[in-house]
Amino acid sequence: MSAKVLVTGGAGYLGTHAICELLQAGYDVAAVDNFSTAGPEGLARVEQIVGRAPSIHAADIRDVDALDAVFATEKPDAVIHFAAFKAVRESQHEPLRYYDNNVIGTIRLVEVMERAGCRRIVFSSTAGVYGADAPMPVSETSPMGEPTNVYARTKVQCEEILQDLSRSSDAWTVLLLRYFNPVGAHPSALIGEDPLGEPRNLMPILLQAASGTRERLEVFGDDFPTPDGTALRDYIHVMDIGRGHVAAVGRSLTEGGCEIFNLGTGRPVSVLELRAAVEKASGKPIPFRFVARRPADVAVSYADASKARDVLGWSPRFGLEDMARDAWRWQQQSRV
Ligand code: UD1
Repeated sequence: MSAKVLVTGGAGYLGTHAICELLQAGYDVAAVDNFSTAGPEGLARVEQIVGRAPSIHAADIRDVDALDAVFATEKPDAVIHFAAFKAVRESQHEPLRYYDNNVIGTIRLVEVMERAGCRRIVFSSTAGVYGADAPMPVSETSPMGEPTNVYARTKVQCEEILQDLSRSSDAWTVLLLRYFNPVGAHPSALIGEDPLGEPRNLMPILLQAASGTRERLEVFGDDFPTPDGTALRDYIHVMDIGRGHVAAVGRSLTEGGCEIFNLGTGRPVSVLELRAAVEKASGKPIPFRFVARRPADVAVSYADASKARDVLGWSPRFGLEDMARDAWRWQQQSRV
C-alpha cells in the first residue's frame, strides 16, 4: 500500500504542481484548501495531467472540527503544509489576518495532526527568513535575520514553532523547505501561477509586458553592486520545487528530527537576464525603464543548494530557458 500525503493549500500554485509530482511518484494524495485564493480548477487539471486524482476537501485549516474529520477519513502518513497568505505588501497592511491564517493556522494544523497521530510535516518556508546581510550564497546554517515584512515574519514564527515541537518529542519529524523564487509552470501548460489582482513579483509582470497587457516593466534599481546593476535572485522552476517535496516526504517517512533545506538552483540571475529570457521565449520585446529601488529589496539572494543535493538526492532539472518557456506557454495557452 502506498503512503498517503495530505497537502494543505493543495489548490494553489505550488500545491497543484507538488501534487502532480506526488501522484506521479506513486503517493496517494488528499488536498485540503479553503479556496480563498485559488479555485478548484487547478486540481481538476491535475487529474487531466496525471490521470489520477487527489481526494479534495474544502476546509480551512483553522476549522479544527473540519480538519479532525479530514484526518479521520484520510489517515495520512505525512502532511505538506503550503496553505498561507503570501502577498508581502498586503501583509504589511493586514498583519492580523496574516498572523491568524499563517501562524494560528499552523498551530491548529499540528494540534489536529497530534490528535490524529500523524507527526510528519514538510513546511513551506522562504529564503526571506535569512537576514538581509547574510553572505551569499546562503546555506541552511546561515543565521536567520530580522524579517523585512510581516509575511516573512509569519514564516520565521512558524519555523520556530515547528522546531520547538520537534524538540519537545522524538515522535515528530519536521522538514523546513526554504524556497527561493519559484517561477514557471507545468510543461503541459494546464496549471501555473494565477496571481490574484495586480501582480507584484517579477515573472508575472514580465509575462504581462510580453503579452501586451502591461505597457512596460519597471526595473527597481539600476545601481546595485551586481554585474548589470540590477538585483540578483535565484529563480527556480516550480516543477523542481514539486520534486523537492516528493524527496522531502520520502525522507520524512524514514527519518526523525527537524531538518532544514534550501530549494534553489544556486545560480544568481539579474532582473535584466530574466527579462531577456522571457523575451527570447516569447519572441516579444519587453520595454522597460529604470525606477527607484523597492524598499527593503536585497541586492543579491541565492542558495547554497548542496545540502538538498547531498541529503535529499534532489537537484534542479530545469534551467532559466525552461522556466521562461513554460511560464510563457502557460500565459499563452491555458490560464484557469
Ligand atoms: C518577493 C518577496 C518575498 C517572496 C518572493 C517570492 C518582496 C519584498 N519580497 O521577493 O518575500 O518570498 O517574492 O514570491 O516583495 N522587480 C522589478 N520590477 C518589478 C518587480 C520586481 O524590478 O516590477 C525586481 C525586484 O526588485 C527583485 C526581483 O525583480 O530584484 C524579483 O522580485 P520578486 O519577484 O518580487 O521577488 P523577491 O524580491 O525575491
